[in-house]
Amino acid sequence: MTFGAISAQSRFEVFSANSNRVEVFASSAEASDAVAVAILRAVAENPDIVLGLATGNTPRKVYAQLSRAVSSGRASFARATTFNLDEYCGLHKAHPDSFAAYMRRELFDKTDFSDDRINLIDGAAQDSVREARRFADALLRKPIDLQLLGLGSNGHIGFNEPGSTIDSRVRCVELSAETLLANQETLIELQDVPSHATTMGIADILGARSIIILATGSAKAQAVRHCIEGGPSATWPGSFLSTHPHVHWFLDQDAARFLEKPR
Ligand code: F6R
Repeated sequence: MTFGAISAQSRFEVFSANSNRVEVFASSAEASDAVAVAILRAVAENPDIVLGLATGNTPRKVYAQLSRAVSSGRASFARATTFNLDEYCGLHKAHPDSFAAYMRRELFDKTDFSDDRINLIDGAAQDSVREARRFADALLRKPIDLQLLGLGSNGHIGFNEPGSTIDSRVRCVELSAETLLANQETLIELQDVPSHATTMGIADILGARSIIILATGSAKAQAVRHCIEGGPSATWPGSFLSTHPHVHWFLDQDAARFLEKPR
């Protein structure tokens, strides 16, 4: 399977869990290439696509591939709309540790996304409830065609921490101790991870027409098992994805190692 210069040939396992499709790749690079190919295909089919995007370590290689595809003329995102999942509360978009700055560094500055179709939560908004409502309204006006997710080692999607309900909507949440620890290493300037973030809710995420979730590395293996095989439960918020008809998991071997496959 190729898309221009990207190849994703070493997929070695595909199976279905509930309505979710699960693919396991030999390495995180190969899983990431496969995700990039899937996104590039979706954009080629529908240049006006509405994309939901994630930050964090997981999608970096995907964004690098998307950037290469645009700079080599193989793809264009000029007509696409984006919504990011979340933002730290209290951080201005110019702060290097904001997710807005991450998105500029990893993707937006290297591609041709149009500024006026990029939707980000304003972490510096004085009134976070009002900002959440503004973002939720924008989402309702432009439903997401393809949502890209990462997975927290505690099973969170977006910043819907354990205990989040399936009907949760965009809101400000307190980050769990596990998330604070995991995100500490990604900080550029701050000493400590902000205690709160505004995140799309589970219901907002499940409102996407299709969802791609990428999980790599053994730190995600326990969460991957509970989310794919455990049945829907607020204890592992990613498990709510099993209720959605079009979810595609892309895993590397390390993240997949606790799955009882194939079925
Ligand atoms: C990021 C996000 C989070 C991350 C998750 C995994 O926008 O919503 O759910 O996807 O915390 O983070 P990494 O990829 O850094 O392991």
